[in-house]
Amino acid sequence: MKPVCLAIIGGGVIGRRHAGAIAENPSAELFGIVDPAPTGKELAEDMGVPLYGDIQALFDAGSVDGVIVSTPTVHHCSPTLAALKAGVHVLVEKPIMPTLEQAEQVVAVSEEAKRHVMVGHHRRYYAQVHKAREIIQSGELGQLVAVSGQWTVRKNANYYDPDWRKNWVAGPILTNLIHEIDTLRYVCGEIASISAEISNGVMNFEKEDVAAMVMRFESGALGTFVVSDQATSPWAWEFSTGETPAFPKTGQNSVRFMGTKAALDFPNLALWHHGDGAPDWNHAINPDEIPLELGNAYARQIEHFCAVILGNEKPRITARDATETLRTTLAVFDAAHSGKRVML
Ligand SMILES: NC(=O)c1ccc[n+]([C@@H]2O[C@H](COP(=O)([O-])OP(=O)(O)OC[C@H]3O[C@@H](n4cnc5c(N)ncnc54)[C@H](O)[C@@H]3O)[C@@H](O)[C@H]2O)c1
Repeated sequence: MKPVCLAIIGGGVIGRRHAGAIAENPSAELFGIVDPAPTGKELAEDMGVPLYGDIQALFDAGSVDGVIVSTPTVHHCSPTLAALKAGVHVLVEKPIMPTLEQAEQVVAVSEEAKRHVMVGHHRRYYAQVHKAREIIQSGELGQLVAVSGQWTVRKNANYYDPDWRKNWVAGPILTNLIHEIDTLRYVCGEIASISAEISNGVMNFEKEDVAAMVMRFESGALGTFVVSDQATSPWAWEFSTGETPAFPKTGQNSVRFMGTKAALDFPNLALWHHGDGAPDWNHAINPDEIPLELGNAYARQIEHFCAVILGNEKPRITARDATETLRTTLAVFDAAHSGKRVML
């Protein structure tokens, strides 16, 4: 069968990862890279494919089945709309868009064009996330009472060299916490309200250095989450899982789900319980580990994107769903700036 023909718009850090996943997939082929800057040229040369200065030049050169939009977040909208108008399916990196207005426009245009917009919430391709959802939704923890999590790292100083990374759209809330919020929505159900505090007192850029939030889930469970790109710690998803080769793996878990009957350590799953006949704090509590292979989510995401383009699978994360993740994430800013609890 003819491979699914894909192009990458934005050949930077994550664009390179997508290119690697396409190269490893026999059902996909890379048509070219669109990027006006030297990083894109380097990627095109490494992959042995043509480089285009803009998306129109790509479409003038030939037809593709899908594009991956991995430009900086503020530049997600224009290539996504151009692709949809050309009848091409899109996998856009997270956050779907920097604003709800743009996200809602993309939802409307994709539905009208009858073309898919999938969003790069790649954690939805991990067995650990699916298993946690199954455990919580099946009631294995009893009634979910509380969630406690953190994503706290110290990013390298030159990460902030590009000016766009100093702005609020590239801060840890919209870049990193959004992954956590998407995972929490997927695993525990919708978040009904958020209160939050934000500080930028370390780097003094527009972007925040740390945010702390309190949330109420629709189920009634309460949760807290702390995110920072300036806090040294071994507790963050990438350190827990070893997902990104450039970052150290600590194996330390970063999120805990607590129910009336048991607790779940995440993402290296361990189910803690006192034992059936002794369900309270007067009795020993022990973990049952649930070992699962991590696998390569980016490879699975490309495989799934091809299957969606071919009409063989339904998107695991649609533009509409990712817009709800964006709405919930942006509420952290609203709550912090207003000092009030935001109802979703
Ligand atoms: N899924 C994930 O885990 C993950 C990880 C990292 C980044 N991201 C997301 O991916 C996006 C890109 O992040 P990055 O770290 O790869 O950024 P980056 O700066 O490394 O790369 C962005 C690239 O886009 C190019 N570019 C800029 N404007 C363009 C345009 N109009 N058309 C074509 N190319 C253009 C730049 O020249 C650059 O090469 C962001 O939205 C980010 O949130 C997602």
